[in-house]
Amino acid sequence: MNYQWYPGHMTKARRMMQEDARLVDLIIELVDARAPMSSRNPDIDEIGKGKSRILLLNKSDLADEKYNAMWKAFFKQKGFFVQEINAKSGAGIKGIIPLVQEACREKIERDRKRGIINRPVRAMVSGIPNVGKSTFINSFAGRSCTRTGNKPGVTKGKQWIRLNKNLELLDTPGILWPKFEDQKVGERLAMIGTINDEILQVEELAAAIIGYLQKEYPGRLGERYGIIDAEGNVYETLEKIAVSRRCFQKGEIPDLVRASQMLVDDFRGGKIGRITLEHPEEWQ
Ligand code: G4P
Repeated sequence: MNYQWYPGHMTKARRMMQEDARLVDLIIELVDARAPMSSRNPDIDEIGKGKSRILLLNKSDLADEKYNAMWKAFFKQKGFFVQEINAKSGAGIKGIIPLVQEACREKIERDRKRGIINRPVRAMVSGIPNVGKSTFINSFAGRSCTRTGNKPGVTKGKQWIRLNKNLELLDTPGILWPKFEDQKVGERLAMIGTINDEILQVEELAAAIIGYLQKEYPGRLGERYGIIDAEGNVYETLEKIAVSRRCFQKGEIPDLVRASQMLVDDFRGGKIGRITLEHPEEWQ
């Protein structure tokens, strides 16, 4: 999907998210487990002030297990209730209902003391484009759930999905934009495919991926492409990949653009293994 990154669009999305946040007790924020900080927008902390917060490390199937555990601990320490999930396969989704109860324990207790029983927790899903919000809502809420219309005191037109007697989910997610003007953030989001390929040229992107893999995951490229790869000149490695995969232009000249596209697709699809692009130490 292509997203337009012009400021008017972002301001409108932020305003809508702010309005919707007023209607809920809980914000379920999705981040991409391969780059959990770059795939957040810090505005959400302001918007979500005073709300219970769940953070889901989505696409955890594509991220390094060791770092999934480290990121989970990192966000827990910051006060989030955290779960690793794969919205596509449904892995980890079951654990969310008990997590909601835990995250909203205070609210539930407060209601009980005031004699309010059976008031469901209202939640909204939020995250940057492409992080997996729609996939998650489908998988979490399923098709069998009833969608409820307007209610007194609720902005006209809002649709709620009733998951069970204790939980209602706003059926449209809140979209926030990443801080892609930060070069490092932009590069990481381009690597995982969150932002369009026009932002970085495909060869530059391939070079960034090769450089990172050589440093952090030595041996992976050699294994995938049957080449002898050593840290050093990334373009030499790209050429080796082109030759090994027979990406040639006329006259057996390695076609680096085609090889780059293939590498980028392999990387994004997890074919080079599970990889995490940023580590909690950077933020400690
Ligand atoms: P959005 O609403 O936040 O914009 O994201 P959306 O659900 O459209 O998901 C974006 C892409 O990420 C989709 O791939 C979706 O299948 C994929 N995805 C979502 N969650 C996960 C996950 O946990 N693991 C993996 N591996 N992929 C996930 P797509 O290529 O756009 O569509 P499709 O061909 O997969 O249907």
